[in-house]
Amino acid sequence: MAKPIIAPSVLSSDFSDLKSSFRLFHESEADWVHVDIMDGRFVPNISFGFPVMSVMRKLTDKFFDVHLMIVEPEKYLDEFKKAGADQVSVHIEACPHLHRTIEQIHHLGLKAGVAINPHTPIAILEDILADIDIVCLMSVNPGFGGQSFIEHTYQKIEQLVKLRDKTHSQALIEIDGGVTLSNAKKLIETGADVLVAGSAIFKTDDPVATANKFKNIDI
Ligand code: DX5
Ligand code: ZN
Repeated sequence: MAKPIIAPSVLSSDFSDLKSSFRLFHESEADWVHVDIMDGRFVPNISFGFPVMSVMRKLTDKFFDVHLMIVEPEKYLDEFKKAGADQVSVHIEACPHLHRTIEQIHHLGLKAGVAINPHTPIAILEDILADIDIVCLMSVNPGFGGQSFIEHTYQKIEQLVKLRDKTHSQALIEIDGGVTLSNAKKLIETGADVLVAGSAIFKTDDPVATANKFKNIDI
């Protein structure tokens, strides 16, 4: 089994000292930077926008995995590219014209993903799965870091693995929310390719060592 891609969520980092927080990306084996954008409309919280993201972009060369928890994401794709996105995931619940939005992301030269809420059935992905690079499977209700993992997620991963085979899709499966060192192994064994972890990395005494533990989990 391949090692997972580890994407620390900077939502849980210290915003008063981003430079120090971002040392994690130089000093650990973490692969991606998971950037959570919240608009106070799609989700009941507001995180940060382009100016902060542009500052983050200057602090590391690592791959920016941008998770848009916003309504009408298609209006801002160009701006997210300018702010440094390598990959943009939009919520299926926020996109009535999802196929067009995915095309727009690809036309910008970025990887494109679809994020899906805990209550949204996997089957809804059938006609988009072959066109996307990643599914961001929410294992908490989006909006906040530090929430508890929803156990039903394992079943959804199993369903997604089957649907990916059926549709000949290459999309990665990313798990976002409540991921810890205790559930990481089972998530990988069930089919997760990418693990997002915010509080389980940044809220520990030694985030570098913790990120490395996630990367080298015994599978
Ligand atoms: C939740 C965000 C997550 C969050 C994860 O809305 O999409 O990426 O930062 O944080 P933890 O790992 O603390 O659940
Ligand atoms: Zn996220």
